[in-house]
Amino acid sequence: MPATVVLGTQWGDEGKGKFTDLLASEVDFVVRYQGGHNAGHTIVIGDDRFALQLVPTGILNAHVVPVIGNGVVIDPKVLLDEVEVLSSRGIDTSRLVISGSAHLIMPYHQELDRLTERYLGKNKLGTTKRGIGPAYADKASRIGIRVQDLLDEKIFSQKLEVVLKEKNQILAKVYNRLPLDEDKILADYLDVYAPKLSPMISDTVGILHRAYKQGKEILLEGAQATFLDLDHGTYPFVTSSNPTAGGACTGSGLGPRQIDRVIGVAKAYLTRVGAGPFPTELEGETADLLVERGFEFGTNTGRKRRTGWFDLVLLRQAVALNSVSEIALTKLDILDVFPEVLVATQYEVDGERTSDLPYHQSTFHKARPIYKRFEGWMEDLTKVTKKEELPYNARLYLSFLEEQLEVPISMVGTGPERDQFVSLR
Ligand code: IMP
Repeated sequence: MPATVVLGTQWGDEGKGKFTDLLASEVDFVVRYQGGHNAGHTIVIGDDRFALQLVPTGILNAHVVPVIGNGVVIDPKVLLDEVEVLSSRGIDTSRLVISGSAHLIMPYHQELDRLTERYLGKNKLGTTKRGIGPAYADKASRIGIRVQDLLDEKIFSQKLEVVLKEKNQILAKVYNRLPLDEDKILADYLDVYAPKLSPMISDTVGILHRAYKQGKEILLEGAQATFLDLDHGTYPFVTSSNPTAGGACTGSGLGPRQIDRVIGVAKAYLTRVGAGPFPTELEGETADLLVERGFEFGTNTGRKRRTGWFDLVLLRQAVALNSVSEIALTKLDILDVFPEVLVATQYEVDGERTSDLPYHQSTFHKARPIYKRFEGWMEDLTKVTKKEELPYNARLYLSFLEEQLEVPISMVGTGPERDQFVSLR
């Protein structure tokens, strides 16, 4: 069975968790392919609210094998804490498999993430300070320590010795900090984390290819989103991995011809955390209302998200970059009380209109949105489950988005619960 990718098409927090969870009930494997515990997926099942950072969403479905792919960076303490919390709530975590080629987030990564942000001052990126960027930087510099190194004490110790020497020099000489204690790191990683993680470590590439050949259904779950992509996002205000569909291949080991469905999750309005350009950003009462109704605070960091209107220029680019085959539109109900709903169709830059995303960052910073205005539906959508029950104005809004994006909207989210959605297919 060809694999499916589900990914964010905006700046993250589109509500991917809920749709991934819904899709997970129909598949055999759910694979995280990039990012780390900078991600945060919230799933609501009845009175239970699950906030997942590293463990794939599929963990909540008893028949699914959740896989953490080679493209992910793992903080072992966070992973083990998450596994423990899930187990204590009655979830079977024994099926979890971790790629031996995934990289480990080490204590110096987190420390350097914090220090670099402080050093950058007003130019800071607004990272989650989880050590994600420094861990991926070490991976690219070929001094990263991988999950498989936990299985060999000698190799782990040798690698740590070499890399820590350099990191401690940087901490002391650049940032005037105390060096990190090598023995403490060795004790934590080899004596505490390694024995607990070892049974989960495996050749995930082999597992996935065998599963593919056996006709199993595989869902590749993106974290963050298209415009936080290291290559295609609003650099430098991006994360350090590739959430776009290409990253699903490199981060899992499946090839492009093994994927035939790409579900782009888009929120009915926009949010962004951290710094960076945001042409449709709102301020004042409308922004506050979106934050309040959409509960727009980071799952992980608690930071209030910036909010804005839906942006078709961004979305058209996301559809192209990811070969999106269908859109899952989330949180439409949040717009229920707005008498007018706006959608940016183009940008104006230096007096010229464009439908394309400016490739030059300085141009993008100057872009002003051109809006199409829709009369709001002013009705409660939270109980709507059928296409025919959607108010006329909401249907007009959805048809316009479909026509502009040239891909179908297959699902529309109308509330946080698992069953609060409308299937349009
Ligand atoms: P990092 O991934 O911690 O390095 O942060 C880089 C940028 O990505 C910052 O602007 C973060 O706010 C943003 N970011 C990282 N993870 C997420 C996420 O899951 N949702 C939304 N923004 C994120």
